[in-house]
Amino acid sequence: MSSIIIYESKAIKPKGLNKADIINKEKLLNYFLAGDYEKLSALEAINLSHNKQKISLLYPGSGADAFVPLLYLQKLFPNVKKAKLIFVDYEDNIGLVKTVLDDVGVSFKGRKNKIKFYWENKLIELRFISKRIEDHLQKGKTFDVYFEKAFRLMRDQISGYEDKILSLLNEGGILISDTGFLNKDLEYIDIPRSLSSYEEMVLGIKKEKK
Ligand SMILES: C[S@@+](CC[C@H](N)C(=O)[O-])C[C@H]1O[C@@H](n2cnc3c(N)ncnc32)[C@H](O)[C@@H]1O
Repeated sequence: MSSIIIYESKAIKPKGLNKADIINKEKLLNYFLAGDYEKLSALEAINLSHNKQKISLLYPGSGADAFVPLLYLQKLFPNVKKAKLIFVDYEDNIGLVKTVLDDVGVSFKGRKNKIKFYWENKLIELRFISKRIEDHLQKGKTFDVYFEKAFRLMRDQISGYEDKILSLLNEGGILISDTGFLNKDLEYIDIPRSLSSYEEMVLGIKKEKK
């Protein structure tokens, strides 16, 4: 477990898809500050009654943080077999994402900004979009899961941000954020607030229109 996390991009050659990859837990822990990994076990007690096998997830301001959304996916969505992750960050961090996956023993296939790999038996297609989220959202692409972490200061500068996100979240879709999204038309699910470094963790389901 680290007291600081150092990311260093290396040129990683794709080793191909391997469903049998075993994640090196010791190395994985190096990407978490003390106690943060253990806190995620609280997610295993949450039952979202989510039955979809295939989902898309949007992660704005992702940086190179692949592991946290993957662990949320693993723990909150046991039925999902295939997930399309869209990371949007104006800094191009795909090289770092490939480096950290390789470091923990996850091999991938693909080139440039689009890779595929297995994470705990789920087939993940990760696309890294080097853009400002406000420009990406203008395309109007919808998603099943919204994931946000450590992006509060940046997205607070974007006018109407939360409502735009909620309009693009599919009905029945899940919102996971470490800040904001209070008093919205969501079915809120209990989640420990301490999962957010701001103590503001929110988990909500977008209600389906009748
Ligand atoms: C504090 S870092 C958080 C990174 C990651 N979410 C994490 O938890 O480790 C914020 C990230 O947001 C990105 N960023 C800032 N403004 C942005 C914007 N308008 N659109 C997309 N990315 C942005 C930065 O490049 C940076 O990678």
